[in-house]
Amino acid sequence: MPYQHTSEDQHSRQPPGRLAGRTAVVTGASRGIGLAIAERLVSEGARVCITARNAEPLGEAARTLPAARVLTVAGKADDPRHRAEVLDTVAREFGGLDILINNAGVNPAYGPVSKIDLDAARKVLEVNVLATLAWVQAALAHPELHFTQRRGTVVNLSSVTGDTPAPGIGLYSVSKAAVSHLTRTLAAELGPDVRVNAVAPAVVKTRFARALYQDKEEEAAAGYPMRRLGVPADVASAVAYLVSEDASWVTGHVLSVDGGLTAAGGTV
Ligand SMILES: NC(=O)c1ccc[n+]([C@@H]2O[C@H](COP(=O)([O-])OP(=O)(O)OC[C@H]3O[C@@H](n4cnc5c(N)ncnc54)[C@H](OP(=O)(O)O)[C@@H]3O)[C@@H](O)[C@H]2O)c1
Repeated sequence: MPYQHTSEDQHSRQPPGRLAGRTAVVTGASRGIGLAIAERLVSEGARVCITARNAEPLGEAARTLPAARVLTVAGKADDPRHRAEVLDTVAREFGGLDILINNAGVNPAYGPVSKIDLDAARKVLEVNVLATLAWVQAALAHPELHFTQRRGTVVNLSSVTGDTPAPGIGLYSVSKAAVSHLTRTLAAELGPDVRVNAVAPAVVKTRFARALYQDKEEEAAAGYPMRRLGVPADVASAVAYLVSEDASWVTGHVLSVDGGLTAAGGTV
C-alpha cells in the first residue's frame, strides 16, 4: 500500500508547500547548485540532509537554512561508509526518505580524452556515475527509509555535455552521458513506485564552472537564446518540479536547463 503522507504541517506552524512533510538528501550541497536545491526544497516544505566533503563550509551552509529543517553529514559521496552514515541519520532523525538528489560531481581532469590519465578518469567515473548508482541502491536497500513504499523520487545532476562533446572536459562529458543513461535505465527498472529523472544544465555560475565564464561572461552567454548564463536557482526550480507530485507522470527524463543553448546548436 502506498505510504500516506501524514503531513506534520497540518498540525504545526510549518508553512504548507508542494513538498510539505517530505524528506530529502542532497549531496554536495555546501554551495552552488546543491545548496540552491536544498534551499528550494526547504522553501517548499521539505526537510533536508545536506552533505559535502568539508565540514566547516557545510555547517555554514546549514546555518542559512531553518535549523529544524536541516541536517548535515560531512563526507565523500563516493565513500560507502559516508553513505551509510547519511542514510542512518536520515532514518533516525526524519523517519524515512522521499527525495534523493545526486548532485555531487567532480571534474579533476582537463585535456583530450585520448591522453587522459586513467586514474583521473577512474575518479570522475567513480564519483559522478558509480556513486550516483550507489546512493540509489543504498536508499532502496535501507530497511528504515521506506524509500519505495513512500514512492521515492531521485534527481541526478547530468549536464548538456552528456549529449554534446565538450572540448577539454571530454571525460567529464562521458561521465554525464552515463548519468543520463543511468537515469533512464533506473527509471525503467524502478517504476511505478520510484521515479528517476535528471537535469542537464549548461553553464551555471558556480565555483565549479568559473573557468568557463570568468572575465568573459558576455562572450560565454552570446550563444544562449536567453542571453545569459544560468544561476543555481534556475536548476533548483527544475529539480523542485521533478521531485513534486506535479511531475507524477514524469520519469526517465533528462531535463535540459540550459537557456536554450542545445536547441540553438551550441556547446559549452
Ligand atoms: N556549474 C555548472 O555549470 C554545471 C553544469 C552542469 C552540471 N553541473 C553539475 O552540477 C553539480 C554541482 O555542481 P556545482 O557547479 O554546484 O559545483 P560547486 O559549486 O563546485 O559545488 C560542488 C559541491 O559538491 C561538494 N562536493 C564535491 N565533491 C564531492 C564529493 N566527492 N563528495 C561530496 N561532496 C562533494 C562540494 O563541497 P566540498 O568541496 O566540501 O566537498 C560542494 O558543496 C555537479 O554534479 C556538476 O557536474 C554543473
